[in-house]
Amino acid sequence: MIAQEALDKIVQATEAEVWLEELPPSYEVLLEKARATEGLLTLLSDKVDATLMDAVPKLKVVSNIAVGYDNISIDEATKRHIVVGNTPGVLTETTADFTFVLLMAAARRVVEADTYTRKGRWKTWGPKLLLGQDIHHATLGIIGLGRIGAEVAKRAKGFNMRVLYYDEINRSEEEERQLGVEHVSELAELLSSADFISIHVPLLPQTHHLIGAPEFAMMKPTAVFINTSRGPVVDQKALYEALKSGQIFTAAIDVTEVEPISPDDALLDLDNIIITPHIASASFATREKMALMAAENLLAGLRSEMPPNCVNPEALRG
Ligand code: DGY
Repeated sequence: MIAQEALDKIVQATEAEVWLEELPPSYEVLLEKARATEGLLTLLSDKVDATLMDAVPKLKVVSNIAVGYDNISIDEATKRHIVVGNTPGVLTETTADFTFVLLMAAARRVVEADTYTRKGRWKTWGPKLLLGQDIHHATLGIIGLGRIGAEVAKRAKGFNMRVLYYDEINRSEEEERQLGVEHVSELAELLSSADFISIHVPLLPQTHHLIGAPEFAMMKPTAVFINTSRGPVVDQKALYEALKSGQIFTAAIDVTEVEPISPDDALLDLDNIIITPHIASASFATREKMALMAAENLLAGLRSEMPPNCVNPEALRG
């Protein structure tokens, strides 16, 4: 259930049908329930594609409670003059905080250490017990220096890290100076020089499996790999092999190729990975802000106005 204040706004202004179950509706149920609607408030677990849009002839707006919108076919929405809203900005710092939580927890083996203690295996202080990697003065490689990547860089600077970044789309020398980060023009250079690697790119056809076996092979055996972006950006089988064979030291991921990850997935058998259930933006305050922002996007779209945060403004033009 989303924040009550956001829900109240929607319910007061519309004849809303609210999905109250914990699990999302199946695609078929969503399609059936959506048929007569003009607006949809969606989560990233709801797939909104051309078939669904064709089945909902009056649809004007899809408002996603997320900054990412790879669950929605944007080109198809634009063609049909359906505006799509998202929630940028409000989750940037919360997500960057969590990226750092994962980075530190993985480097210093916090989850393994907790399990070790709870299982009664702590017998004495050991000079080689649960050794990890230093964070301070290490090199962090950020792939994608957008809003979240830049906030991660700021946190790294507080730990005296050297920060490299690779970004195929954006390069701002001004931002590099302000953040104290260094641009690398080849992904391979970042992968082979960084001690920590953190992914901050959207899921696009060009970023699908951006990191696979050849990329893991370029990383240091001491590398700590973090993904809080989208699961399919990483080839998960290749990640498994890299961790299992010791090609890299450890990983922490908040996203998986299929969500939720299957309880039988081999990754869950490894000790050198932390896997969290897509919660990087999950603070009370941030989830409330996201819901309110999404409610405003939805209500604006229903009034045939431009949502304050619209990813396809061209849908309303022409
Ligand atoms: C997003 O907003 O895209 C996140 O993945 C969920 O907060």
